[in-house]
Amino acid sequence: MSENTLTITDNRTGKQYGIPIENGTIKAIDLRQIKISEHDFGLMTYDPAFMNTASCKSRITFIDGDKGILEYRGYPIEQLAEKSTYLEVAYLLLHGELPTESQLQQWTDNITHHTFINENIKKVIDGFHYDAHPMGVFEATLGALSTFYPDAKDIFNQELRRKQIYRLIAKVPTIAAFAYRHRIGMQYSYPDNELSYEANFLNMMFKTTELKYQPNPVLERALSVLFILHADHEQNCSTNAMRSIGSAHTDPFSAIAGAAAALYGPLHGGANEMVLRMLNEIGSIDKVADYIKRVKAGEFRLMGFGHRVYKNYDPRARIIKKVAYEVFEVTGRDPLLDIALELERIALEDEYFVKRKLYPNVDFYSGIIYQAMRFPVDIFPVLFAIGRTSGWLAQWIEMLDDSDQKIARPRQVYLGQRTRDYVPMERRSAARAEAGQGEAALLTGHGV
Ligand code: CMC
Repeated sequence: MSENTLTITDNRTGKQYGIPIENGTIKAIDLRQIKISEHDFGLMTYDPAFMNTASCKSRITFIDGDKGILEYRGYPIEQLAEKSTYLEVAYLLLHGELPTESQLQQWTDNITHHTFINENIKKVIDGFHYDAHPMGVFEATLGALSTFYPDAKDIFNQELRRKQIYRLIAKVPTIAAFAYRHRIGMQYSYPDNELSYEANFLNMMFKTTELKYQPNPVLERALSVLFILHADHEQNCSTNAMRSIGSAHTDPFSAIAGAAAALYGPLHGGANEMVLRMLNEIGSIDKVADYIKRVKAGEFRLMGFGHRVYKNYDPRARIIKKVAYEVFEVTGRDPLLDIALELERIALEDEYFVKRKLYPNVDFYSGIIYQAMRFPVDIFPVLFAIGRTSGWLAQWIEMLDDSDQKIARPRQVYLGQRTRDYVPMERRSAARAEAGQGEAALLTGHGV
């Protein structure tokens, strides 16, 4: 038997199987041959939350969580954050290589000329209540966009696919900014094609009476770095949603709306918003130690801490911390930074966090920067989504072009009731009482 195999002995039958090992994995489907009888379905793996299952092969983003390494297409995140712009990184993620000067110019030009949204989309946004959460508006508007571009359904037409990519990367800042302006009751500020991607976003967010909006270059650059750091992160929850929805050959606008919905959750892209709320709740440095005590007692989690993959300092958090100081040179120091620094200091020394390898993640410091730049707290997840759009699209294309992929369809281990006779309405209460089941049982995830 080849040395690149795993030998499995099924003690139920005494049979042995040689399972090939490739790229440090075995194929779960190879376990299906392991059966106790002809009628047995065959062995499966049980892996809730994909703790140890690779769902795809990818060439986009590399993470070594133990060492705290993050690379896009082989380029270390630190170098990209220092030397690139967000659009350059978006090109890299989608094309596999950094663009030449003319490629970047063409790419930027294509994105810039798709920043406007159909006037009717404005009406969709106008329809939301004045206090609608911008992430909810963002998600819904992305879904609505799919109805404006029926050609997006033609996902295997390369030219049309490219067009949807320009549209999506170009329009997400516009939608985000319009969602914000609607919320504060201000007239929309239209895209300015003379500005960079980041500067234009700031223009659409914050322009008031000035004839030409000119952002502070330090803040423009900080935003670019933040978008770069959020651009991709391999198979995270929202990217998994993007791939899963896309695997049904759904158009990319609908798939991205689903990915954004996953990102909205407080355990994922909603965490930056939660960090800010947490820092405000703590309020002052002297309350930090007590707050940590309550975290350790299991009352709640320390938001912006911990990661499924990083068991070391998240390299993005390190870069963001540095950017925070640059931004504060312009905006003035946010007192919340001192609370965050104290939280980090205590947590990194505390056995609870050390033992569980809990370190600050990307969301720990990003919110403080956003706040210093005058972004309202509830738009933070939307900012994450703007940067992540290029990564979602790169992963979506990789999935569509991968001949190993099919419609995503996990298996389950069924533990519920099997074939039983229908109980008529008039007998249900008595039947339940006999079985000792109360009404509350029906409301739990365990059912009856
Ligand atoms: N505060 C306190 N304890 C924590 C935390 C935290 N932030 N995160 C994990 N733990 C504990 C957890 O209670 C568990 O302890 P025990 O072994 O005693 O039960 C242990 O650490 C392992 O936690 P887990 O829930 O099994 O870890 P996970 O890999 O399933 O969860 C996570 C990863 C990011 C959801 C989690 O660390 C968390 O909830 N963090 C706070 C939310 C957050 O900051 N999310 C942003 C993630 S980075 C941006 C992104 O990529 O989305």
